Amino acid sequence: MKILVAGGGGREHAICLALTKNANAELYSVMGKKNPGIAQIARETFIHPETDVPAVVAFAKKHNIQYAVVGPEAPLEAGLVDALTKEGIGCVGPIKAAARIETDKGFCRRLMNKHGIDGCPAYKICNTPEEAAAYIRAYPGDLAIKPTGLTGGKGVKVMGEQVDLEGAVEYAMSLKNQVIILEERLLGEEFTLMAFVDGKTIVPMPLVQDHKRAFDGDKGPNTGGMGSYSLENHKFPFVTDDDYAKAISIMQATVDALSQEGNPYKGVLYGQFMNTKTGPKVIEFNARFGDPEAMNVLTILTSDFLTITEHIIKGTLSPADVSFENKATVCKYIVPTGYPENPRAGDVISPGPAENTVLYYANIALEGGVLKTLTSRAMAFVGVGDSLKEAEHYAEAACKNVSGNVRYRSDVGTEALFAKRIAHMKELRS
Ligand code: AMP
Ligand code: GLY
Repeated sequence: MKILVAGGGGREHAICLALTKNANAELYSVMGKKNPGIAQIARETFIHPETDVPAVVAFAKKHNIQYAVVGPEAPLEAGLVDALTKEGIGCVGPIKAAARIETDKGFCRRLMNKHGIDGCPAYKICNTPEEAAAYIRAYPGDLAIKPTGLTGGKGVKVMGEQVDLEGAVEYAMSLKNQVIILEERLLGEEFTLMAFVDGKTIVPMPLVQDHKRAFDGDKGPNTGGMGSYSLENHKFPFVTDDDYAKAISIMQATVDALSQEGNPYKGVLYGQFMNTKTGPKVIEFNARFGDPEAMNVLTILTSDFLTITEHIIKGTLSPADVSFENKATVCKYIVPTGYPENPRAGDVISPGPAENTVLYYANIALEGGVLKTLTSRAMAFVGVGDSLKEAEHYAEAACKNVSGNVRYRSDVGTEALFAKRIAHMKELRS
């Protein structure tokens, strides 16, 4: 089975490793920069922007590709799935019109509203920075300010967190020629719920919690994600069974709404939820696996990913196709010093001993047998254990053994941080 994976990050390395566990998978890769982990296992790699749709389609046709898995959002927005589908290549990843659930935050909120889907925060769409600024000044509480388009996870400023009133106005005014969405600030604990979707059926994966802020203690600017963890029971104590059921029904209702609109959704749907005092609210949807969250779940996927891929494409997915090991996972990204604002590229990194962990490469160069940093997240370790404590111990030990001009968040998955999350939720609901 010839299968093409688009994208070259840690997420895509995890996707590629999961697919090639099946000996029938013959892997092809297109990626903007060469990921050494993917290059090692792919039959052929095409180092080229994944967003160049005609070039990717030509590569796929040349190699008689049967299936494709699209990792990042940019090629989805560029219409890669639409073009591959036209050539008879089945895709894990939505068509452009369905990917708008991620690529156009205004579309997402309007869809939720129109179909009466639960968990939509109060929002206001503004067509000019001036309109947004006036709304922010007049609004009685805190808002989250976001451009409606893609920003790589770095476009959101939350009042009371990153900005005060004046900072919010200033930020909105800087978003020239962009449509801006203002949302009520949600308070609670965030969690990620990803599901495989075949157009109608959704099959959930373990819950994961991501850490977007650059530094320990959730300090510093937002990043693409510094690390993430999941528990051995695939749930969180700060998400009750009722919260979980609501989150699932929000995801199902969203998939149903897209189908009713004539754009059935196939691929991975990523729900980013804020679990508030009154239950889960949708911060956003993504039209793909999360990065780093993909590494948590794919590391413990026990069923065959190639079979899941086929069922998604054929519309025959069932919960029986998907199972995960009852293990906890902790993923920590190693990033160049100065990331995200002033990352230093070109420094040598040497991983040391690592026990009970899986290493995923991301934005990293392999030159003459030596690994070097580039300007983004370099590589990630996923520790796997019977408990969070054990998984964190393995991930932390592996990260500590890396030498080079790099850093990572040592608090991801620690008992102290986990206890804080639980206490926060208790306090909110008391
Ligand atoms: P996003 O790019 O939409 O995933 O947002 C990045 C981060 O901003 C999220 O992980 C949240 O921590 C925060 N955020 C986004 N929207 C809101 C909101 N309405 N209320 C509170 N925090 C938010
Ligand atoms: N980890 C957040 C994202 O992939 O968007």
